[in-house]
Amino acid sequence: MAVSFFDIKRQNDALKKELAAAVSAVVASGRFILGDNVSSFEKEIADYCGAKFGVGVASGTDALHLALRACGVKPGDEVITSPFTFVATAEAIAYCGAKPVFCDIDAKSFNLDPAKIEEKITSKTKAILPVHIYGQACEMDKIMAIAKKHNLAVMEDAAQAIGAEICGKKVCSFGDAAGTSFFPTKNLGCFGDGGMVITNKEKLADELKVLRGHGSRKTYHYDIIGYNSRLDALQAAILRVKLPHLDDFSRARRKNAALYNKLLKDVDQLTLPVELKAGMHVYNQYTIRVKDRDGLFGYLKVKNIGAMVYYPLCLHLQKAFAFLGHKPGDFKESEAAQNEVISLPIYPELNSSEIEEVSSAIKEFYKK
Ligand SMILES: Cc1ncc(COP(=O)(O)O)c(C=O)c1O
Repeated sequence: MAVSFFDIKRQNDALKKELAAAVSAVVASGRFILGDNVSSFEKEIADYCGAKFGVGVASGTDALHLALRACGVKPGDEVITSPFTFVATAEAIAYCGAKPVFCDIDAKSFNLDPAKIEEKITSKTKAILPVHIYGQACEMDKIMAIAKKHNLAVMEDAAQAIGAEICGKKVCSFGDAAGTSFFPTKNLGCFGDGGMVITNKEKLADELKVLRGHGSRKTYHYDIIGYNSRLDALQAAILRVKLPHLDDFSRARRKNAALYNKLLKDVDQLTLPVELKAGMHVYNQYTIRVKDRDGLFGYLKVKNIGAMVYYPLCLHLQKAFAFLGHKPGDFKESEAAQNEVISLPIYPELNSSEIEEVSSAIKEFYKK
């Protein structure tokens, strides 16, 4: 039986009527840029995260970039982040003219290792950008304490982790601001690109609204050079249909992860995901460490089982970031992860026979 890595059609089919009604209402309104759907969704998502303000933007990448800009990150500044993440995290820093300063990850959680952050702080450090990778929150209590001690801003990259919790709070409610993504494969996905900055700071939210709309407060008057980066009304309407189901989606992802854990626990060649005790992982990805990763990946492919490698090359080793002067060996845990990780299908609508199929194929591979 083939198992696809991700199948958004199942979710959309289940919500077909509500989605169609939401799209029709936007078409009938004739209001496609900003408007009630965007402002209501901004409020709903901020409430969901336990924060005060949401500012809808065109993508998760823009959310991080604009939020860093609004926090005053500028050329010459340094921002500490993980090298084991999607490229957008470091791109957002570079777009501001600032320098991404990489810090190694913790082997168990794949997230920034708080114990290694302070040694990266210099007089130029302006912010820390922790990434809640795969849907598991970083140790935000430790990161916030370091930021406070050194007077640094904190920008959460919650693109993969909307709904995740740590220390009794949801991600996006800890730092000065957070950026999340509504890319279709994310836990809360729209029908294209979309993103949101979430913040408790009114002044920051206000500046972000100016930045996303060409730097304008008054029509055709421009205070600063801004961007065209707004969340579409159509996407907001779709996301408003999906948001009330997000906790159910997260529960289904967690249930799928628990079944994999049960089925794969005795396979010696695997290291299964480790959940932080103080947190709630929302499994945007179910990512394991394995022996002979490339062999397993090829085997699953032949069996028509979808799998992905997030990420096969750390950012400090990418050509685009060669100007930072890194070399192999600079971030040992991140490089070990790049060579060993594989992500299995985990989307909420995946059924137990499909999870059994994937697990059996993995067991077969290691018995050979
Ligand atoms: C960790 C991380 N940060 C940022 C982004 C960027 O989001 P978007 O694709 O919406 O620009 C992504 C998207 O994959 C991501 O996974």
